[in-house]
Amino acid sequence: MEMMIRGRRNRRSGAIRGLVRENRLAVEDLILPVFFHDDANPVEISSMPGCTRWSVAGLVAEVLAVYEMGVRAVVLFPKIEDSLKSADAAECANDEGLVPRVIRELKEACPGLCVITDVALDPYNSDGHDGLVVRGSDGGLKILNDETVEVLCRQALCHARAGADIVAPSDMMDGRVGAIRMALDEAGFSDVGIMAYTAKYASAYYGPFRGALDSAPKEGDKKTYQMDPGNIREAVRELLLDEEEGADIVMVKPAGPYLDVIARLRDETTLPMAAYQVSGEYLMIKAACAGGWLDEKAVVMESLLGIKRAGADMILTYFAKDVARWLSEGTFR
Ligand code: PBG
Repeated sequence: MEMMIRGRRNRRSGAIRGLVRENRLAVEDLILPVFFHDDANPVEISSMPGCTRWSVAGLVAEVLAVYEMGVRAVVLFPKIEDSLKSADAAECANDEGLVPRVIRELKEACPGLCVITDVALDPYNSDGHDGLVVRGSDGGLKILNDETVEVLCRQALCHARAGADIVAPSDMMDGRVGAIRMALDEAGFSDVGIMAYTAKYASAYYGPFRGALDSAPKEGDKKTYQMDPGNIREAVRELLLDEEEGADIVMVKPAGPYLDVIARLRDETTLPMAAYQVSGEYLMIKAACAGGWLDEKAVVMESLLGIKRAGADMILTYFAKDVARWLSEGTFR
């Protein structure tokens, strides 16, 4: 055949493929979500094989180890004892509570670590919702917006006082980014950043996470605050609002099934963008690989590279430690 142009020339060796590769995964891109509880013993999380719910001491040791491997950011997810859960979720702003204690210990052990905290009421709320709940006249549950935002501001301030670098509101209440920004600034925390869960979908992929924290809603679902999986224009609208309200980083969640949303928001904003490879995405890969059906390393790396290619700058992933190891071994590609 006579062809001037042959695409395969640029694919013929590893060295050339390395030169022409457009997107790369780096250890600096990774954020590790971590689970912990106020108990001396670590527990393997049955809904998320390979993940552990750590004691405070165990968590500090694990985070130090992961930091040494190059993963310099974590996001904190506490399992709160049932006795501390309440309808007003007051424990979320207790300066002596589990999360502020963990923030202080992590920052002391590892000052260079970027500590990101989840701001939402579900671990603290006896109803398991991200906001405050009342029963409407029709008998159904109603999630209060403005009242919740007040509590979220107190929670964010509590995290900032303990030394959090970035707070990440995952609750999807209207106006919370701006309200938290104002509350932080007024209290002298203008350095504390906000990573907004901008497009957080009402997703079935969060199931294993709720098992890990025992935080599933007791009644109803999260569809009146999290986004409808059919929508993408609405994600742009949320983005414009979060930008206006002062978000420093925006996020799309889940990641893999929403690559089009990541790509769209990438085109619409100059802000850095995070994507969250959530518990269900993790579990699908784990399950397929445990059965010997897929090659775990190859599939994990490809799934994360796809998320970067779509436009994410950083990725929250439960595979962060494995990826750091694989990248350092240089055995990938
Ligand atoms: C809670 C929160 C959830 C996740 C992160 N923060 C669960 C939910 O919204 O129900 C899910 C993370 C995952 O599935 O990995 N606000």
